[in-house]
Amino acid sequence: MMYRHLPRRLRLGGVTIADGGIWRSRAALSQRTLRYLVPRHPPQPNRHHHANASSLVLSSSASSSSSLFGAWKRNATQQQQERFISFTQPMLSQEMEYEGVPPDVAKLINTHAKKVQTPVSLQALMRTGRGEFLDKHFEDAAVEKHTATELVLMQVASFLRRELPIRLAHRIQDLEKVPLMKDMQSVKEVKQLYIQSFLELLEFDKKIVNADQEAAFSRLVEGIYERHSRVLVQMAKGAYEFRNHIAAEKGMNAKDVFAKMEETHDFLDRFYLCRIGIRVLIGQYLALRQPPVDHYVGIICSVTSPYEIVKRAIDDAAFMCTRKYGDAPEVIMSGRLDLTFPYVPTHLHYIMLELLKNSMRATVEWHGPDADFPPIKVIIADGSDNEDVVIKVSDEGGGIPRSNVKKIWSYLFTTADPSIQEGMVGVNNNEAVDHGIDSPLAGLGYGLPISRSYCRYFGGDLSIMSMEGYGTDAFVYLARLGNSKEPVPI
Ligand SMILES: Nc1ncnc2c1ncn2[C@@H]1O[C@H](COP(=O)(O)OP(=O)(O)OP(=O)(O)O)[C@@H](O)[C@H]1O
Ligand SMILES: [Mg+2]
Repeated sequence: MMYRHLPRRLRLGGVTIADGGIWRSRAALSQRTLRYLVPRHPPQPNRHHHANASSLVLSSSASSSSSLFGAWKRNATQQQQERFISFTQPMLSQEMEYEGVPPDVAKLINTHAKKVQTPVSLQALMRTGRGEFLDKHFEDAAVEKHTATELVLMQVASFLRRELPIRLAHRIQDLEKVPLMKDMQSVKEVKQLYIQSFLELLEFDKKIVNADQEAAFSRLVEGIYERHSRVLVQMAKGAYEFRNHIAAEKGMNAKDVFAKMEETHDFLDRFYLCRIGIRVLIGQYLALRQPPVDHYVGIICSVTSPYEIVKRAIDDAAFMCTRKYGDAPEVIMSGRLDLTFPYVPTHLHYIMLELLKNSMRATVEWHGPDADFPPIKVIIADGSDNEDVVIKVSDEGGGIPRSNVKKIWSYLFTTADPSIQEGMVGVNNNEAVDHGIDSPLAGLGYGLPISRSYCRYFGGDLSIMSMEGYGTDAFVYLARLGNSKEPVPI
C-alpha cells in the first residue's frame, strides 16, 4: 500500500505545540564516579573522616572515603580530575546558594533537589488515567464520596503536587551552576520563572483530598504550563547570548567557540529532556480533566497511527516549504500504513514535522527551486514481535558533510541564514515560536536535538545517516510497548 502526497499550496490552521539529551541517572552517575574513584585495590576507608559534601557523595559506595579521594587525586591526571568534578558536581553542591534568593528559599530548593524524582512510563500514565491504581491510593471512605473521575484527578494532582517541586528544584540547581550560561540574562529569567513556579506549588495545600481543592490545583498548574510555554525560545536566546559572549572573548577561534558550546550541550539536553517530562505530566493531567475522547487517555492515544500523523506532518512541511521556495518535493509513504500503537500523537507529529522540514529544505536547496525534485520516502516498519516501531525518512538532498554530522545535534548549529536565528531570539521578538507552521522552515538549529529528546523520552531514539553528495536517512525508533520509564536527569 502506498500513499503519494502532492504538496498543497495553502493551508490554514495551526499545529499543537508540545514541548520538550544526554542524561545521566543518579545510578549511572555514581557508577561512573566510582570508575574514576576506585583504584584496582582500594585502600581501607578512613573511618574517622568528617562528614562533608564529598563524603556524602561517596557514602553511596561502601569503599569510598575522603582518604580514598585524596589517594586517587594524587595519582589522577588533570583530565581525570576534571572529569571527576564534572560528574560529581551535581551531587557535591547540593547545599547551594542562589544569586538574589533569600536563604530560606534556597534551603527549600536544596531540600527538594535532594529528593529523588519519580520517573513514569507511558503505560503507567495510561493505567493511572484509567483509574487502575485507585485502590492503592484511597481509603474506602474517600471512594464512596467521589466519582471515579474525581478520584483519578485527585490522585494525579497529588502526585504532581509532590513531584513537580522536586523536578523544578533539580532544574533550578542546574540553572544556577552551569558555567557561563548561568550569567546570561535570559537564563537568569528562566531560573526566576522556575523559582516562582516552585514556590507557588509549595504554597498549595500539601494534601489534595477533595474535588474543590483539585480544581484549584488544576488552575494553578494550568497557569504554570502557560507561563512556561516560551521557555524553549527563551533558553535558545540564552544560548545565543552565551555564544556571542564567548565569541567576543579575545583569541577564541570558531573551533574553540564550538568546544565551549559542547560543554553547555549536556546541560541543555538535561534541561529540555526534563522540560518534556514536566510538560507531559502537566499536559496529561490537564487533558484528563477534559471530556473523554475515543481511544484517548489524556494526551495518549491507544491507537496512534504513524500513517495519519505523517500525512498531517507532510501537509504542514509542504506548506512551510512552499511558502519559502514556491514549491515542495513529493513524499511517498510505504510499509505498515495500517499500524497503530499507544503513543502521544503530538510528540510524533513534532518529530515527523522536523524531519520532513529538513528533508524538504535539503532537497530544494540541493536541486534548485525550479528542478524536478526526487521524492522523499517515508517507510513505516513494524512486526508484532518487534521492540520498536521504526520510521525512516529518506531524501536525496545532498546529505551532510561528515565534519558537520556531530554538530547537527548541537543547539544553535544551523546552516540556515543567521538572520533567521537572530530574528527568532532577537531582543524585541517576543512572538517567536519554536515549532509549528508559523515558524520558519529552518532557523534555530533545535529541530534535530529536540526531536531526539522526544524520541528518547519514551525509550526510543533518533539517528541520522548521511551520504554526502547524495542524501540523508533519518531513523526514528519508538518503543512499541511504552513500558520504559522516562529519563529524569538530575
Ligand atoms: N535531511 C537533511 N539533509 C541535509 N542537511 C540536513 C538535513 N537535516 C538536517 N540537516 C543539517 O543539520 C542542521 C541542523 O538541523 P536542525 O533541524 O537541528 O536545525 P535547522 O533545520 O537548521 O533549524 P530548526 O531549528 O528550524 O529545525 C541543518 O541546518 C542542516 O544543515
Ligand atoms: Mg530543522
